[in-house]
Amino acid sequence: MPTHTLEENGTHSMASVQSLTTSVHQRLADALSAALPDAAPADPLLRRSDRADFQANGILALAKKQKANPRELATKVVEGIDAPELLKDVEVSGPGFLNITVTDRAITETLAARAADGDRLGVPLKDAPGTTVIDYAQPNVAKEMHVGHLRSAVIGDALRGMLDFTGEKTVGRHHIGDWGTQFGMLIQYLIENPDELAPETDTDGEQAISNLNRVYKASRAVFDADEEFKERARRRVVALQSGDEETLALWQRFVDESKVYFYSVFEKLDMEIRDEEIVGESAYNDMMAETARLLEESGVAVRSEGALVVFFDDIKGKDDKPVPLIVQKADGGFGYAASDLSAIRNRVFEVGATTLLYVVDVRQSLHFRMVFETARRAGWLNDDVTAHNMGYGTVLGADGKPFKTRAGETVRLEDLLDEAVQRAAEVVREKAQDLTEDEIQERAAQVGIGAVKYADLSTSPSRDYKFDLDQMVSLNGDTSVYLQYAYARIQSILRKAGDARPAAHPELALAPAERGLGLHLDAFGDTVFEAAAEYAPHKLAAYLYQLASLYTTFYDKCPVLKADTEEQKENRLFLCDLTARTLHRGMALLGIRTPERL
Ligand code: ARG
Repeated sequence: MPTHTLEENGTHSMASVQSLTTSVHQRLADALSAALPDAAPADPLLRRSDRADFQANGILALAKKQKANPRELATKVVEGIDAPELLKDVEVSGPGFLNITVTDRAITETLAARAADGDRLGVPLKDAPGTTVIDYAQPNVAKEMHVGHLRSAVIGDALRGMLDFTGEKTVGRHHIGDWGTQFGMLIQYLIENPDELAPETDTDGEQAISNLNRVYKASRAVFDADEEFKERARRRVVALQSGDEETLALWQRFVDESKVYFYSVFEKLDMEIRDEEIVGESAYNDMMAETARLLEESGVAVRSEGALVVFFDDIKGKDDKPVPLIVQKADGGFGYAASDLSAIRNRVFEVGATTLLYVVDVRQSLHFRMVFETARRAGWLNDDVTAHNMGYGTVLGADGKPFKTRAGETVRLEDLLDEAVQRAAEVVREKAQDLTEDEIQERAAQVGIGAVKYADLSTSPSRDYKFDLDQMVSLNGDTSVYLQYAYARIQSILRKAGDARPAAHPELALAPAERGLGLHLDAFGDTVFEAAAEYAPHKLAAYLYQLASLYTTFYDKCPVLKADTEEQKENRLFLCDLTARTLHRGMALLGIRTPERL
């Protein structure tokens, strides 16, 4: 345990820790206000810097606005700062920048307070948390999952981890595709071939999806070849929509069988999916008519050629033609849009969402723009409730085209994940020294799945990325394996330390590599908050990668187990330990494991 915490010093009453950036920012802002008592509070624009710890760039613009001499103003600000415990040096540079160096003691004490705060590492909770409903991981019933579903699941899960950590309440919604005219064909086929999907026989996900694929293909073939079957299938759709019991029971079998399959894939993905959060398109069936009525009565939607539609002046489709949103088709049927509009009413008025977040392929962004605008006009979305679609980009193959098999088919997600784990096993086996075969397989799953997730999450969600397994499991570069090894190496050092315990010694002077690592460790909470607010998991990934790099530099430059004194050894072990815990926590927020040994 660290010997010092701010809490023990009585300067901090709660376990949460103010970051050095925030402390420095406050001092500067105060000094700025004192130097210019008549001006509105101004942002000192504090940034991390190579020349000192921080640089403040905000004085120039402020001086200009106040018609003051920037260097004079900067000097006045420096003279107004009195915080020797926090600041070692504040100097005016260039036309009016400030270079700021914090004291070694402030760094170590702040980190000690973080270390004393268990899992939260001193990161505060939001003052006014809201409720975010996240729509993610939404595969379709009776269909194979593909890389697009991978992205939604991985990004959604990471966003959820980060938002939860800030104190936001999150509710998941897996809006699975479990409704539509294709079920007429599937169910009718099952009625005519009842043994094709016997409920008791299926045990695992693989079996489930192969059954579903078989029924899908067979029914499609009859549907395309047999006009009379087509007609019976059409009537079956009507029976389904009107709630016919036998039809619904068969539909339920498709849903159940599909869930067995979904769960098996999510388990492979090392991702927890809760049954009560699987709320598919069909769950809103009972609300559809009411949704349509509300939209029609308020004039938001109008009848056009028998259909109920919403028009937009400013939303245009592909060829620049305005596209309407169809709430109800001329035959009375409701589709994808009516379900999403009903879901908004449910999520806002029943679940109590303050934010609606959708993690859906960018190719559906037009749909969501229209749905959100319709909901806004209807008053279901307003200033208190915001909706956002995190449209993500496409997963590309090595050739830079959308990811397909050589034969041009969609790649099955399970196959892809299995291959990633297999590749990871090769890497783990090569490096493993004292691992049993079981341990190798367990690590391989954590490394392989972590690699797939990290490759996705380290790219800005809106961008496309190449699915390149060789690169993903590489030990060099910006990969999860690199981060996992950094973590495992630290654990091994901590094990080797024997009786020596990690302990902070704020009285010690720090080497540059220790300061660099320490200041970065302190920025964890600020980074998570920023990444969560911007829905940008790649910012957290970049932070963790930099953390591992700074740790490597520290480890090269500063002997830990062979430090000069016992105090220095303890302090360096303390830095090692906090680095490991921060890596572990950060990776966990992204949904990635950090094995203790690799
Ligand atoms: N199931 C859909 C698909 O696979 C995605 C659903 C997205 N969510 C929503 N609320 N529309 O494309």
